[in-house]
Amino acid sequence: MLDFQRMSGEGEPQRLRVGVLGSGAEGAYWASDLGGRGVDVIFFQSLDALLEAQVGLAIVVANPTEAARLAAQVADRPTSPPFALLVSSGTQAHPHLRLVESLLKGKNEWERTFDAIVDPVAMLDRTGTVVRANLGLARVLQRPIGEIIGAPYGDLLGRPGQGSIDPIAESLSDGRARTEEARFARLPGVQQVTASPYNDADGTPQGAVVILKDVNDIKEQQERMQQASRLADIGQLAAGVAHEINTPLASIALRAESLLKVAGDPQLQAVESFKNFPRYLKTIDEEIFRCKKIISALLEFSRVRRPETRVIDLNALAEKAADLVGHQMKLKQVSLALQLDGGLPHIRADDGQLRQALIALLMNALDATRAGGHVDLQTRRDGADAVMLTVADDGMGIPPENLDKIFSPFFTTKPVGQGTGLGLAICHGIVTSHRGEIRVESKVGQGTRLSLVLPVAGAQTGRS
Ligand SMILES: Nc1ncnc2c1ncn2[C@@H]1O[C@H](COP(=O)(O)OP(=O)(O)OP(=O)(O)O)[C@@H](O)[C@H]1O
Ligand SMILES: [Mg+2]
Repeated sequence: MLDFQRMSGEGEPQRLRVGVLGSGAEGAYWASDLGGRGVDVIFFQSLDALLEAQVGLAIVVANPTEAARLAAQVADRPTSPPFALLVSSGTQAHPHLRLVESLLKGKNEWERTFDAIVDPVAMLDRTGTVVRANLGLARVLQRPIGEIIGAPYGDLLGRPGQGSIDPIAESLSDGRARTEEARFARLPGVQQVTASPYNDADGTPQGAVVILKDVNDIKEQQERMQQASRLADIGQLAAGVAHEINTPLASIALRAESLLKVAGDPQLQAVESFKNFPRYLKTIDEEIFRCKKIISALLEFSRVRRPETRVIDLNALAEKAADLVGHQMKLKQVSLALQLDGGLPHIRADDGQLRQALIALLMNALDATRAGGHVDLQTRRDGADAVMLTVADDGMGIPPENLDKIFSPFFTTKPVGQGTGLGLAICHGIVTSHRGEIRVESKVGQGTRLSLVLPVAGAQTGRS
């Protein structure tokens, strides 16, 4: 069987190098005919040079007298390239040429199919050496096909990651097909490996065809879904606990308030051991208030409430939210600047929910900023289908390792008693139920930008 091998590098069209030794005009005719068929034709002057050349196919055009002599010479050289001896005396289409044509066609079709597969595919021999590879493999390994063919797969993919099995080695050894996930040192993340052993006509194992699939995106998606379902569980749990605690807490608060009133009585104050009672009771009252705040945040977080949407003006909403936090900003000497896009389309959203989300962002910005700092509140379009509300501060910033945690419930870097870690979790829930997203950019020591991106779709555009 002819064994064609691609000689070109990664990304180039796969061309076969054909060496031609022709007698006179006939050889030139064959060569030009082949040249139009996607192969590189190289002329040779002598049979020796042709047989030693690195070509995928050697064609010799000879007349009947020469043919027998050349055939004998070739028979003595078993390691020569695949060889076709065309015995001809005319330039018209010859049965041999048609044979070569159909071989070339088959080869090209097979390679095009192989290369059209986006996932990396390799055919290995029994020892694990790559016999064939597609462009997909060349791409992930960032090496030309020429370097991949003939190399052991272990050298190309690297060693399996710690604790990771090597499905290719297992299939080569037990002759069974398998699909398993594995990590290899030279490939990014997790790969799904399908190793399918193949046999020759007698059933003797010849090696395996290996298909790799990058499953990192799928894995990440699964992890996000698991995270989302964990959040939902926490939400339910939190709601249950919060309801249970709310009732006793309300009666404790009521009793504490009445005791506080009584404790001020001058007669009681005259008794030495009652002196500290008003102070103690005040602490109890304050702590109960803090518990109630945490519980209402928990309830808010766990509430599975569909947004009650109506057409709203984001600029008006931004102004209202800025008003609400303006006083606290002034107290801390942080300036708040509004940049509102006057041409912003109205959107359909739940006014109250969005205001709550925006206030959570503004409070976080305020907490992160030192006296004399700045917070910007901006509205603008984000492409044709979305609008964006951005809160930017020049505060402490968020370290990169915390960026994917800030939306998790109860994640807080604030001292105990100052943050519940629910602000952004609630914000995330609100924005997701509006089919929007939150974007975050942050640099430690420089500041943070958090943007709520909300779809315009379905909203009335233009001012109403
Ligand atoms: N603008 C910001 N600058 C720096 N860090 C921020 C900013 N916004 C959020 N963070 C970080 O994200 C964490 C989580 O924020 P989140 O609003 O969810 O909770 P919190 O503010 O700590 O508590 P609360 O429930 O009172 O809002 C914060 O503790 C803080 O570390
Ligand atoms: Mg917060």
